[in-house]
Amino acid sequence: MARILTGIQSTNQPHLGNILGAIEPMVQLSNQLEHEAFAFIADLHSLTTVKEGGDRRHRVHQVAATWVACGFDYSKNRLYCQSDLPEVTELTWYLNCFAPFPMLANAHSFKDKSSRLADVNAGLFTYPVLMAADILGYDAHLVPVGKDQRQHLEMTRDLAGAFNHRYGDVFVVPEAFVQKDVEVIPGIDGQKMSKSYGNFIDVFLPEKSLRKVVMAIATDSTPLEDPKDAENCIVYQLFSRIVSADRALEMKQNLEAGGYGYGHAKQALFDALMERFAEARERYRHLMEHPEELEAILAEGASRARPILQQVLVRVRAKLGFGSLPA
Ligand code: ADP
Ligand code: TRP
Repeated sequence: MARILTGIQSTNQPHLGNILGAIEPMVQLSNQLEHEAFAFIADLHSLTTVKEGGDRRHRVHQVAATWVACGFDYSKNRLYCQSDLPEVTELTWYLNCFAPFPMLANAHSFKDKSSRLADVNAGLFTYPVLMAADILGYDAHLVPVGKDQRQHLEMTRDLAGAFNHRYGDVFVVPEAFVQKDVEVIPGIDGQKMSKSYGNFIDVFLPEKSLRKVVMAIATDSTPLEDPKDAENCIVYQLFSRIVSADRALEMKQNLEAGGYGYGHAKQALFDALMERFAEARERYRHLMEHPEELEAILAEGASRARPILQQVLVRVRAKLGFGSLPA
């Protein structure tokens, strides 16, 4: 059985782009019998950018509740919080001592972050090593990630390969799993939906606030009665990704015929979001109102993931000569 593993940082409430682009595809993979899935909340990684401690666990809950609400079967699989298994930082240290400086200095994401963030800390620099420990520590075979994380996966493979070459088969060398048919979901301004652009749709917002966000989607000034260019209409682009092909075609024809305004299209999108995520919204609301249920799910996930991480650490420590000598 192939073990698939992925992590999502707890820097924000996952948005529609994260759900359609990362969470739902992972849930589908995890439901296939030949897979055993590990999903975790990368809260240690979030410390590279989010310094306030006050709501760190609340953010973990938001991400965990999103996974569960989107149908991740946590009893068959594992859902855990990265920092609940602090052993991963021990493995990070070992791997740090094998990570070539130029490899880390060449990371696109480090170059990007260090050029725009005021706080350029060592955690940002060694971010890919913690990520490698997340993956190698659980003997993962397949790692579903977005294109932006591909280079990090290459580093993980390089670290594992170099270590194995020197010490024998200690780590499973993982493969990246970049799904080709996952399209980039546009945000309400037409750029890629992203937390960093502030253009995202949080499908778990209360009804009124969600409606407000949908009504704020950018549209051009074509008058109501004129035909419109559906393919270039953000409302249509979003609508077509969450409804059946027939319903999408109907909106496209309405827009192209004229006499159908953007207001109508936005109302249809809002209704479609409420419908598609009805069950997920209910589950999410329930879990966020019962954090003790989330904590129980995470505790169970951690206790079922820990033995694997501990076994990997036993293998690594033995090779590196850490630990006391037997009496
Ligand atoms: P953000 O851009 O909001 O910071 P992340 O980089 O944390 O999002 O992405 C987490 C996961 O969600 C990644 O696997 C990424 O590929 C996916 N994802 C993020 N935004 C989108 C989007 N607009 N469309 C499709 N997938 C996305
Ligand atoms: N760096 C990933 C991102 O920002 C999150 C992450 C951390 C991750 N550790 C991981 C993803 C291990 C896959 C596997 O999207």
